[in-house]
Amino acid sequence: MDEKTENITTSVDKQSTDGNYASGSKEKGIFQSVTARYAKVDPHTYLRKEGESSKSFWFRRLIQIKPVELLWDDAEQSELKRALNAFQLIFVGIGAIIGTGIFVLSGLAAAQNAGPAVTISFIIAAIASAFAALSYSEMASMIPVAGSAYTYAYATMGEFVAWIIGWDLILEYMVGAATVGVGWSGYFVKFFAVASNGRIHFAESWTSPTLTWIESPPSIYRGEGHYFNVPGFVIIMLITIILIVGIRQSAIFNTIVVTIKLLVILIFIFALCGFMYPPNYVPYIPENTTGNWHFFGVPGIFAAATTVFFSYIGFDAVTTAAMEAKKPQRDLPIGIIGSLVISTVLYIAFCTIMTGAAKYTDFLGSSVPASVAVEKVMERTGKNFAWLNILVALGAICGLTSVLLINMLAQARVFYSMAQDGLLPAIFAKVHPKFKTPWVATLTVGTITALLSAVLPVNLLGNMTSVGTLLAFFIVHLGVIVLRFTRPEVPRKFKIPGGKYLSLIFPIIGMVISVALIAVAEVTTIWRLFIWMGIGWVIYFAYGIRKSKFNRDPVGRFAEGKRGLPDNTREDEQGYQIEQYEYVPNTNSPNYRA
Ligand code: ALA
Repeated sequence: MDEKTENITTSVDKQSTDGNYASGSKEKGIFQSVTARYAKVDPHTYLRKEGESSKSFWFRRLIQIKPVELLWDDAEQSELKRALNAFQLIFVGIGAIIGTGIFVLSGLAAAQNAGPAVTISFIIAAIASAFAALSYSEMASMIPVAGSAYTYAYATMGEFVAWIIGWDLILEYMVGAATVGVGWSGYFVKFFAVASNGRIHFAESWTSPTLTWIESPPSIYRGEGHYFNVPGFVIIMLITIILIVGIRQSAIFNTIVVTIKLLVILIFIFALCGFMYPPNYVPYIPENTTGNWHFFGVPGIFAAATTVFFSYIGFDAVTTAAMEAKKPQRDLPIGIIGSLVISTVLYIAFCTIMTGAAKYTDFLGSSVPASVAVEKVMERTGKNFAWLNILVALGAICGLTSVLLINMLAQARVFYSMAQDGLLPAIFAKVHPKFKTPWVATLTVGTITALLSAVLPVNLLGNMTSVGTLLAFFIVHLGVIVLRFTRPEVPRKFKIPGGKYLSLIFPIIGMVISVALIAVAEVTTIWRLFIWMGIGWVIYFAYGIRKSKFNRDPVGRFAEGKRGLPDNTREDEQGYQIEQYEYVPNTNSPNYRA
């Protein structure tokens, strides 16, 4: 075999042929045809046209999309280690999903908004999330690249919207992780208290964030005797180290903590299922007597659904591990949908048991509803379930730990993608030579998250996680619709069911749900979202637009995308040039300038 032929073989093997990265299979696949179609995209259309006004050119830059082909090239060239299989991706999803929502918010939503019908709220929130899961799955199977909604927006709506969503994802992943870090501290204290029978007690000054926020009238001040949330800070820094050391190590750690939390949830369900007390389910939908739609009655069920929607956030984090998946196009949809289905089933069972074990009014003011349920069963039956109380605290600690881990992993991958595109400083795209992880992005994310968690109160930022996520969902739904029309020919390993047009009803309903849920958020939260986005605009126009690799030098970026491919131009059966080493300009293009 001469050197050239050897090169070609290696390249086809490397890109693999079933559209994935594990070598072996020999059928023709997506990445090969990508390389082929790549040659058809003319980068000169991205340059300023003869006689084009600067206003029109600048506007065109803002909405300039990054072709799917270039994104695929990023995936092909990625230095990150491909170590995750479908099972691990489901665990990544469950890792990010099951946490504060079920362990803390479920009880509050039952006590304040829905009563025992909180289970129905969980079903409603699951349906709302399922629409998003379908859209994310279709996107991930087309564009298996690490940046999640940021990348999808770049491929469909252009750089500006992409930046906006990338900036918005900070709310979902980093602010979300900081919020969970505060909750983690609470469970850490609780765990030692129940495990030692009240003998071990940590001082509140060093386990709560420094600042306190009051919503009305808005004010922030240093909480009396509150210094620093030490447990939150320490756990986040420890997780940062694991994330830097390797994706395989992170996946193993995640698998361990997720297994523990799943076991605890199952033990809770099976241990208490014989102790449900029918009067606790009456009334199933408590009557609304206050006149405020949030409190009970059927509207209260919907109000609770907006609260517990938080419980499902996280399945989208699976997509940020795209470049570390062995078979991204097949396994990402499995990871997204699989983790959502498993979590939903567990949530429904968990809530049914919890509201049957204790009266919904018992959960008022408690942030540990599962413990309340256990204690009520002990009171009523005289059984000794103290061990279950310890297990529940341990399960919650593990649950929150995995949410932290996956959120921080996801945030670092989004920074990595944005830095690769030049929208953030290049240093964030640095991959550690030995560990093969984006270590600078991870360390930065870890340090900022740890500090936020140590200092800032949960309620200041907590709600922003939900609205930030909903905004990202909206854009992803829109992206699916746009790509169906602009790039119908691109292969989709997973397609939303329902045929060409009917299936679009899912993303359309998904968009309506996202807007509706943002609309019912508190006004101050929406204001904070606007302010955050405003800061994003300033950074983009001061930095990103000028440094963007793609917008600054599209021709160079395309040529760069060709690196490493063998010098061979032959046509495939559809007449596309494949495996072409150098970019050959289309001199017939009206935009071509020598
Ligand atoms: N779904 C995640 C949780 O409930 C964010 O903690």
